Amino acid sequence: MGNRIDGRACAEKIHDETGARVQALKSAGVEPALAFVRVGEDPASKVYVGMKEKASARLGIQSRSHVLNEETSEKELLGLVEELNQDPQVHGILVQAPVPDHIDSARVFAKVDPEKDVDGFHPLNLGKLLLGDRTGFVPCTPAGIHELLIRSGIETKGAEVVILGRGNIVGKPMAVILMQKAKGADSTVTLCHSRTREVSEHCRRADILIAAMGQPHLITKDMVKPGAAVIDVGVNRISDPSVSKGYRLIGDVDFDGVMPVAGWITPNPGGVGPMTIAMLMRNTVRAAEQAGHTQHG
Ligand code: GUN
Repeated sequence: MGNRIDGRACAEKIHDETGARVQALKSAGVEPALAFVRVGEDPASKVYVGMKEKASARLGIQSRSHVLNEETSEKELLGLVEELNQDPQVHGILVQAPVPDHIDSARVFAKVDPEKDVDGFHPLNLGKLLLGDRTGFVPCTPAGIHELLIRSGIETKGAEVVILGRGNIVGKPMAVILMQKAKGADSTVTLCHSRTREVSEHCRRADILIAAMGQPHLITKDMVKPGAAVIDVGVNRISDPSVSKGYRLIGDVDFDGVMPVAGWITPNPGGVGPMTIAMLMRNTVRAAEQAGHTQHG
């Protein structure tokens, strides 16, 4: 079995759609622009922001990166976010997580103007998501997984969905998206976490299994129902002296073991990651389109 879900190909299609919207905005005199804020030198964050900058450039979205040092105070960071909120040339603002421990990320996300919150982390946008109000921005990783499921023709209506991980960036919003009364949703959702008893039992019931707990290769073939769709969100650094970087990235799913059992499976890399970026670009273009409407009445 094991239909490989090609996240890269799906992301490319979405980039084509988004690119056309960028061109339409430019023709109307609007230059869509996205501001990145990174605090400290977290190596994974550097890579992620680099990939997001590259995607922006490719689509013709202007991007500006603000790199602050590890010792930056929360007040300074909030001040920069406020400046970006006030800047009419900036349509989207992304503060890359994680921020250093002395900064309260929730306060920072809540400071971003909800109209520029292309990450969908502001309480207003998360509240809209919970209420099924589609006027808000949806967090990029769960939105990307949702889009992958829909575009792959995987039935979500009435499906047993099991999500592993209750983080604010993936697990919680993913559960909310799929439990909505809506096309491409209508699922029965179980959210498992570190205190869940008998995780394997839950997993084996899943028609759609979404692994976002950050545990290398925790999902093995004995935990997967034959024919299930398996989505691997994990990005785990494993030390590997045999390669020059000294480490290797592996997912939360044992791909080789699970592949023959699963009906659908995302590779990692090349599954969820490219979709996160595609959703960020799409959210940014939407923010620019909506700002244009506001400006012109
Ligand atoms: N860190 C991990 N995923 C994300 C994301 O989607 N957005 C931001 N800002 N930080 C992250």
